[in-house]
Amino acid sequence: MTADLAAVQAELLAAVESADTLDALEAARVAAVGRKGRLGALMKTLGDLPPEQRRDYGQSVNALKTAVETAIDARKARLDGAALDARLAAERIDLTLPVRPEAEGRIHPISQTIDEIVQIFGQMGFRVAEGPDLEDDWKNFTALNIPPEHPARQEMDTFYLRAGADGARPVLRTHTSPVQIRTMMTEKPPIRVIVPGRTFRSDHDATHSPMFHQVEGLVIDEASHMGHLKGCLIEFCRTFFEVADLPVRFRASHFPFTEPSAEVDIGCTRAGGEFKIGHGDDWLEILGSGMVHPKVIANCGLDPDKYQGFAFGMGIERIAMLKYGIPDLRTFYDSDLRWLRHYGFVPLDIPGALGGLHR
Ligand code: DAH
Repeated sequence: MTADLAAVQAELLAAVESADTLDALEAARVAAVGRKGRLGALMKTLGDLPPEQRRDYGQSVNALKTAVETAIDARKARLDGAALDARLAAERIDLTLPVRPEAEGRIHPISQTIDEIVQIFGQMGFRVAEGPDLEDDWKNFTALNIPPEHPARQEMDTFYLRAGADGARPVLRTHTSPVQIRTMMTEKPPIRVIVPGRTFRSDHDATHSPMFHQVEGLVIDEASHMGHLKGCLIEFCRTFFEVADLPVRFRASHFPFTEPSAEVDIGCTRAGGEFKIGHGDDWLEILGSGMVHPKVIANCGLDPDKYQGFAFGMGIERIAMLKYGIPDLRTFYDSDLRWLRHYGFVPLDIPGALGGLHR
């Protein structure tokens, strides 16, 4: 009987050792120790033996089972390792290879410009915040100190939707400024956010699109003042337009949500019939800004005697057109591949303050 078991053991171990795939090993396992396997069959013969032999025989079969299972585990570990090695070899990629020339896609100038803006303000400690395209009237207007009869509502050519159950009409946000409200209502100062996003106004001609993009900035803490606003925006303009000594001018203006308010102009020249950003005899307006109005801070549930700060907003298409010499606003949304190949950006040229923001 023991001789039999030794032969069975040799046979089962040989089957395990010769299994060269995980599937084959599983088949060998089932044949050996599975419910209807060889060892089960041997155990069933236990009852046919004379009682004095049963104990020894049972122990021998159990020892055999342990030996086979140990062999299966060891074999499985080897096959697993080999399978992983094979997969690693098959899926190997060489990150040092040059980019394939056939990579045809281009980053849209709007995306590129947003990436650059986020990168510059990110370096100054701002983080990105977002809000929905569909906004409620209160956050888009009222909370920003634009009450129902305020002329700014008409100026913004708002797209209104049908009134909801509460009688209020949702709007497609006319600017990214409502994200100021969302941020101040949900976060405790200090706040430093930059908010790129889509905006909508019922206006369509060579210089206006019903959908366009803005980026909003908001800083709220206990000490930020107009000097910080100026330093921050001068730094942004010079880095974004890549002109180290770019003249930047702050011109008194009015917005309902800031007091005082300033529009920001950058220097430019049209000398010799060629437009250029930098020193020159002319100015170009590129953004609106100001100290956040105390009423706006209070509308968000923050104490305006404790907190203060500044905000700014600018049109992304406009500064993209200026920086990259794109002459017509409407072409941004034409999805013309020739245009995108010309004005688009290579995906791996990621803007970074350290690497410069050059193409
Ligand atoms: N929301 C203004 C607009 O769409 C732009 C703006 C001006 C945003 C001044 C601001 C700001 O945050 O302080 O015309």
